[in-house]
Amino acid sequence: MSKQPAVHQVSLSDDARLITVRDGERLLFGAWKCGIGIKSICGGRGKCGSCIVQIDAAAPDALGAPSAAEAALLPAHPQGGTYRLACLCEVRGALTISIPPESQAVRSTPRKPFTVTAVAARPTATRVTFDIDAPDTAPPRALTTRIEQAAASALGARAVELPLPVLADFSCVPGFDTAREVTATVLRDRRIVQLLPGRHSRNCGVAVDIGTTSFVVFLCDLARGQILAMRTAINPQAMYGEDVISRITHIQQDTALLGNMRKLLVDEINRVLIEACAEAEVLPDDVVDAVLVGNPTMQHILLGLNPQPLGRTPYLPVRSEGVDIRACELGLAIAPQAEAYVFPMVSGYIGGDTLAALLTRAADFYRGAQLLVDVGTNGEVVLAHNGMLSATSCATGPVYEGAHIRCGMRAAPGAIERVWVQADGAIRWAAIGEANAAGDKRPIGLCGSGVISAVSAGVRARLIGRDGALAPPATHRQLHANSEGESDELVLVRAPYARTGRDIVLAQQDIRAVQLGKAALRAGIEILLAESGVTQLDCVYLAGTFGNHLQPEDILEIGLVPPLPVERVRSIGNAAGDGARAALLDRHQRRRAARLAQRLSVLELSGRGDFQDLFVMHTALSPAPVAILD
Ligand code: FES
Repeated sequence: MSKQPAVHQVSLSDDARLITVRDGERLLFGAWKCGIGIKSICGGRGKCGSCIVQIDAAAPDALGAPSAAEAALLPAHPQGGTYRLACLCEVRGALTISIPPESQAVRSTPRKPFTVTAVAARPTATRVTFDIDAPDTAPPRALTTRIEQAAASALGARAVELPLPVLADFSCVPGFDTAREVTATVLRDRRIVQLLPGRHSRNCGVAVDIGTTSFVVFLCDLARGQILAMRTAINPQAMYGEDVISRITHIQQDTALLGNMRKLLVDEINRVLIEACAEAEVLPDDVVDAVLVGNPTMQHILLGLNPQPLGRTPYLPVRSEGVDIRACELGLAIAPQAEAYVFPMVSGYIGGDTLAALLTRAADFYRGAQLLVDVGTNGEVVLAHNGMLSATSCATGPVYEGAHIRCGMRAAPGAIERVWVQADGAIRWAAIGEANAAGDKRPIGLCGSGVISAVSAGVRARLIGRDGALAPPATHRQLHANSEGESDELVLVRAPYARTGRDIVLAQQDIRAVQLGKAALRAGIEILLAESGVTQLDCVYLAGTFGNHLQPEDILEIGLVPPLPVERVRSIGNAAGDGARAALLDRHQRRRAARLAQRLSVLELSGRGDFQDLFVMHTALSPAPVAILD
């Protein structure tokens, strides 16, 4: 008899959930598999120090001693306790741990705002209930024929197709051959994708916007065009790194991880979808259509396509057309033969999410010069100029996700999202609300919009120069000096007022990270404008979670986008999610997305000689006008 590998239980001191790990498995990966997210900026490679956990109790020999590399990343414990890096801890016995707030990858509530846009309900999948002839009706016909004929007459169609897998599923339902009343789900009025005995009036679909960091699921009533439930969750692939390059690198090193990452994501989407169905009192079998969008790497992994070509020149997707795929092949927990639609991709970095965001723009977007900007770890920019569409993408770095920032965190409860300096010099802030289980409302750290806001506020109050340098320590009581006597951090919240018990600061290196991210994005925008001969924009639309929470004044202050009146910088929320929903509810939008993919010309920035000059120019935190390029 084969011996089962030993498993160990890891308990959480302040959480009833348990982590089960195989003997020798690293704690980080075991935790994520059990649905407990621990931050892992470097993808579990022991380089970033973001996955710190506190060991509260351990069985003898449950953990080996930390290596020198691990010890170098571990902070001193304030009460003499033990910290370890979850990604380097191989578990060999029972443990009890705590995950400090700053190490928690918040699972349930990353913010993905959505806009309710009026979409005419013209779904791809419709339901129709009809009576079929009894078996002894003359002339004698097989069940398939009787169903196809009754369905065609109910739909007013010449013929409908009833594929074998659908019939096979139906033939396993008790009483299938005696049922007189049948409900069929029909795709594009032509093909039956589900048969159920009796009358079923609910006709639902799901739209999923898959981000590198998190995803959002919209459960919708297809007949009414309404959202029934919405859920967001962290993308569990984050255990393999916070950006797409880390995930591609992991797959490059071990192709088997492609399947692991795919399964992690699909399982988590299913978990969230089942919750949404329970909330809306919808059976998974009543969900008969799905639309999924994401950046090209997310879409590749979802489809089981190796994303390696996306990470090297000429940065082309393995497949660019949209994909219709059966839900059971994708592993989605909806009606098994229902068809899911995965959006087209345009290039290595311009994917279905960008196209879905474009779907939300009406005809006026194509008049004049309009810019759509979606900033995450990557910045995608689309310029619509006199009806022409061009796009580019630039590596803005993780600063906009609040990562690689001294006190950075995701946009989750406890994250400071806005900072301002009063006339008397007092530093004020606003955090995303919601106290923890103990009722503690104190902030934990800075999310991406908080970092930008803090930098802009600092520049406005002259605590930060336009060159990004912090002002001398004597300028403000909350500027801290380093050993050379220069300021190296601005304290935004003092330790007693922070949930972590440590100062929440904006460090000099955080400002440098903002400058690099800002310069990359702005240089990309400048090249895109120059290629189209645009010197003045009519409007800038900010898409995505981050874009939605930015204050237009803040981004204009530091020159993240070209100067224009503040009211012409507009947040459009989670446009990718809104576009995915539009394509779910209105079948014409899928064709529109395919047409947009063909219209969009992509400008590749790597290899552009002028990028570096523009990048250097735009490291300054100032509202520079559009450059005229030679
Ligand atoms: S050090 Fe553990 S995830 Fe980076």
